[in-house]
Amino acid sequence: MSRRKALISGITGQDGSYLAELLVEKGYEVHGMVRRVALEDPSNRLRRIADIRDRITLHAGSLESFPSLYTVVRRVQPDECYHLAAQSFVSYSFDDAFSTLNTNINGTHYMLAAIHEAAPQCRFYFAGSSEMFGLVEETPQNERTRFHPRSAYGISKVAGFDLTRNYREAYGIHASVGILFNHESERRGFEFVTRKITAGAAAIAAGAKTEVRLGNLEARRDWGYAPEYVEAMWRMLQQDRADDYVVATGETHSVREFAEIAFSLAGLDYREHVAIDPLLYRPAEVDLLIGDPAKARSVLGWTPCTRFEELVRKMVEADLRSAGIAVKSSRA
Ligand code: NAP
Ligand code: GDD
Repeated sequence: MSRRKALISGITGQDGSYLAELLVEKGYEVHGMVRRVALEDPSNRLRRIADIRDRITLHAGSLESFPSLYTVVRRVQPDECYHLAAQSFVSYSFDDAFSTLNTNINGTHYMLAAIHEAAPQCRFYFAGSSEMFGLVEETPQNERTRFHPRSAYGISKVAGFDLTRNYREAYGIHASVGILFNHESERRGFEFVTRKITAGAAAIAAGAKTEVRLGNLEARRDWGYAPEYVEAMWRMLQQDRADDYVVATGETHSVREFAEIAFSLAGLDYREHVAIDPLLYRPAEVDLLIGDPAKARSVLGWTPCTRFEELVRKMVEADLRSAGIAVKSSRA
């Protein structure tokens, strides 16, 4: 039997890199779509997939160009397509709402249209987000909770959700949406608050800087561990019927709690090193996210394993090591 083929957009990102590793392990022929500049600057832009670079095939493509996506889909003829590529930084979507909406909404529409035209049997995953709940209308949030996005990013994900559902209903595409709550890891981008805190604490412990500037410390998020979340994506595409699933831990913590634990693991007191910068507050904040993963648990058999403190520890220890600081204890 020939190997199943998977196409991942956003393979250079946090989730794309973990998903690619998972699918390689499972014996898939893995293809990734990357921007052309990434192919020209591999040591920097392909760093997260460096270890599996010789076991995957990369294709140049951009979310701004339907022909480029269509060509990749037609050539690869994937059995499964994981559409993860996006302008994923909420804060930036306030600075440039137009490009975020353009990239994320058109990019998802182009991807779905390419699948519909060139590989209609392909199963499709769309990276939805808890940002779609925004100003939450109930707590915890589940698949039936109404959306109330608070940023252009959130709006773009609601549009992607609606597009995906419409291709499922109108054209019978096996298209699912994962409504994933925040998930972090040692590979998280430095612009997101968790990594900003863990990398900042490690740099302060190493004597390379003295403070980290943050915005709203009271925002609460449901933070899980990224490698476990990509497993849920894969499980969604193994179901007979396409559907939408909340993927979350069911616990919520504040940015302040994250900072307190991270700095203390680095041997520091966050109150001495965190400076509040009003410019880092968002014009419209998502104050509280906490997901109910009951459906993912019962239908997909998916459960999160890494608890909050363990997640913070993994990230801090990795950043301390990168900063050249020996780490004594580390649980597996
Ligand atoms: P990430 O690390 O920021 O990765 C984003 C990926 O999208 C990168 O590979 C990036 O490529 C690619 N990309 C961005 N703009 C592109 C464009 N115009 N053309 C082609 N590729 C483009 O994000 P992540 O954390 O892995 O998240 C993956 C997806 O899940 C995103 O859609 C995100 O919105 C969504 N999501 C994430 C979370 C979370 O907590 N991590 C939660 C819910 C939903 P470059 O490397 O070239 O920039
Ligand atoms: N980035 C950042 N930087 N956030 C800060 C800072 C700071 O200096 N200070 C406080 N925060 C607060 C933000 O206001 C927000 O309430 C919270 O920390 C989390 O911010 P991010 O880590 O940037 O993540 P996010 O929740 O906005 O978005 C992430 O999760 C979404 C799922 O809910 C991203 O991964 C999105 O792509 C994803 O969809």
